Amino acid sequence: MENRNANEMVPSESEEWQNLILPSELSPEMIMMMEGMAEQLKSKTKSLMKTVINYKELMVLYTCAMKTVKTKFEVLDSEFKVRYSRNPINSIVTRLKRTSGIAEKLARRNLPFTLDSIRENINDVAGVRVICSYVDDIYRITQALLQQEDITLLEKKDYIENPKPNGYRSLHLIVGVPVYFSDQKYTVKVEVQIRTIAMEFWASLEHQLKYKQNIPGQKEVVSRLKECADTIYGVDAQMQKLREEIAAMEDTPTEEDVLLEKLERLDIKID
Ligand code: GTP
Ligand code: MG
Repeated sequence: MENRNANEMVPSESEEWQNLILPSELSPEMIMMMEGMAEQLKSKTKSLMKTVINYKELMVLYTCAMKTVKTKFEVLDSEFKVRYSRNPINSIVTRLKRTSGIAEKLARRNLPFTLDSIRENINDVAGVRVICSYVDDIYRITQALLQQEDITLLEKKDYIENPKPNGYRSLHLIVGVPVYFSDQKYTVKVEVQIRTIAMEFWASLEHQLKYKQNIPGQKEVVSRLKECADTIYGVDAQMQKLREEIAAMEDTPTEEDVLLEKLERLDIKID
């Protein structure tokens, strides 16, 4: 059944309209002022729309740069597979930094949220993480990437040689990559993190600590994680040594053997 009382509390649509000043009662000055405000709003909306479009285009640029870097690593992996019958790269993941992450990072450093500011100050909008099986492969593929003429090294942090106090190990690069749009060539920054499977295993667990602060037993967890990081580094080193020893155990092949093996490898599926 209809609730009449409740309905009576709400003014009807016609009553609301009655309270409005009708345009005929407005002075010409007020009409002009309102028209001016409408114009201003329209131009603000237009400029906001342009900014959103430019931001979206910038994100497309970063996405394309990420794809280029990923493809470069995939090519190196394929070459290795054909030449040496093993893959140096276990997996590659890419990620585009979220708008909230970009805004938060700029705000933290008191920098404006503008496209120029993003391009200048945020190095990790485009992120590529490469997971290798062995430590020496990290350096091998890094060297192979950096010697490519369209790649510019902007920054290098070797947290494998110099681990962070918490035990974090990884090789970090910031590279400039060309992206060709129909009208122009852009140089886009990409952050590359290269680490072993074991280092990735460690970092993903340690990352969970980032969201936990001042919890009881934290100090002990931090110190056990540091121990694990060092153990993992020892295991990585041993695995690499074992791989080399196993390779050295193989009988010295004849020239014919080498050629036959190379022929066999040509049939290997490379992707
Ligand atoms: P931001 O940390 O991104 O502000 O820049 P930065 O100049 O300090 O770069 P850095 O090379 O130290 O770290 C870049 C990225 O590496 C981080 O955003 C993380 O993804 C990763 N990273 C660095 N340190 C650690 C760490 O201690 N633990 C884990 N799990 N990841 C880390
Ligand atoms: Mg940092």
